[in-house]
Amino acid sequence: MAHGTPSTLDEMPEYLRLVRGGRPPSDELVAEMRENYGAIGGRSPLTEITEAQADALRARIGPEIPVAVGMRNWRPFIKDALAQLAAAGVTRVIGIPMAPQFSTLSVQKYMDAATAALPAGVAFEPVRSFHAHPMLLQAFAEELYEPDRLKKPELGLIPVTQVESYHGMIFGTWSKEVPPLTEFLGDMGWYLDTLVARTPGGAEMLGTPQVWEVDANWKFAVDNFTGDPFHLPTAHGSIYQLGLLPPDPMAGNNGYAIDAGNGHQLLLSTAAEEKMQYYGLPPEVRVHMEQDADPVRRELIKNSFFNVGTVFPNLSFLQIEIKSQLDSPPTAFLNFRLWEPIGPTKTRVWSWVMVDKEMSAEFKKRSYVTYVRTFGPSGIYEQDDMENWEECTRVNSGKVAQSHDLHHGMGLHGKPSTDYTGRGTAWWGTFTEHTALAYYREWKKWIDQPAPWAGE
Ligand SMILES: [Fe+2]
Repeated sequence: MAHGTPSTLDEMPEYLRLVRGGRPPSDELVAEMRENYGAIGGRSPLTEITEAQADALRARIGPEIPVAVGMRNWRPFIKDALAQLAAAGVTRVIGIPMAPQFSTLSVQKYMDAATAALPAGVAFEPVRSFHAHPMLLQAFAEELYEPDRLKKPELGLIPVTQVESYHGMIFGTWSKEVPPLTEFLGDMGWYLDTLVARTPGGAEMLGTPQVWEVDANWKFAVDNFTGDPFHLPTAHGSIYQLGLLPPDPMAGNNGYAIDAGNGHQLLLSTAAEEKMQYYGLPPEVRVHMEQDADPVRRELIKNSFFNVGTVFPNLSFLQIEIKSQLDSPPTAFLNFRLWEPIGPTKTRVWSWVMVDKEMSAEFKKRSYVTYVRTFGPSGIYEQDDMENWEECTRVNSGKVAQSHDLHHGMGLHGKPSTDYTGRGTAWWGTFTEHTALAYYREWKKWIDQPAPWAGE
């Protein structure tokens, strides 16, 4: 279906009368339109183009399905096309406008003309629009290129060549060469299991992820999550003053900083009393952790109450038991973070709260609320940390900061713990930069070497 156009200039008065809904045109209008049509050779190619489209459609769908051209304002008229189809035994007509976008001034009027002239026993199904049909968009795109310039098989999205799930968390990579996920995780998997696979039901995500942006490089976040508990008494000094953290600023030093290999880092803080054991998790989760088939891990996690770390390069986690208000008990929650780099000094944070399926509904809710009040984007800890990352980013870009080196040597005189029984290399005392430096060493490898996973 299309608008219709006169075959000769002689037909102009009658054509214009039909276009004007039956009102005869003035002589001036007829003269003007004849002049316009004269400028394009005396006639419009619309009818030929529409007939050619019909021929192409016939060739595509075969002789079984009749195709007819109908114009609203000139021969062949829509009513004649419908009569022709009905005479051929057609009972269902699909009306396709030769304009992809809907308009009340064109397409609606073609549809109205067809409905008004519909023979008895024939159903009419108009296509209102197809401007966003993928094949039309593709056709337009192809028009913009010379045929041999657009080699589509060589273009398109970059395929994710390896996709693997780790207890329901899905990881993908573009590289065909990097090792499989479990091999890449290595010893980090041994620790991750104490977070997402510590009960038969496993972990589940609570609610939707919270997403926000921070004006800092994504490695600021990683640095914070490779284990820097020494920032607590300073960056979160106001929380100490509120009495929400233990008064001894060195209390956070009790635990292990662990380099789990392949760039993965974490720290495990030691439980000072029994109720803090097993990350301070409720009995319905503890009962399963007490039955961990790995006796070394069972003993290690029994004595741990805080676990923070990063799966190289940009997936971090925080398992913490914390007070969110003066009058509420400390509550454990598990938070996973993805640091999405969206610029040299801009990071999008994706933050998920995970709970164990076996947890009571009441504990799950308390866990979520505690996260929101502390480490959600409006949380009392998160507000401090975001301000620090952004302010450090601003200061570090200044002339004075750029002309001095930063000192990264805290705790480096310490030797790896010889009595540590867990996986990886561990140092006693978490106030150290061993893990952060191990992370940056791995990152440098990935920048410098063509195949960093293959070793030095
Ligand atoms: Fe912090």
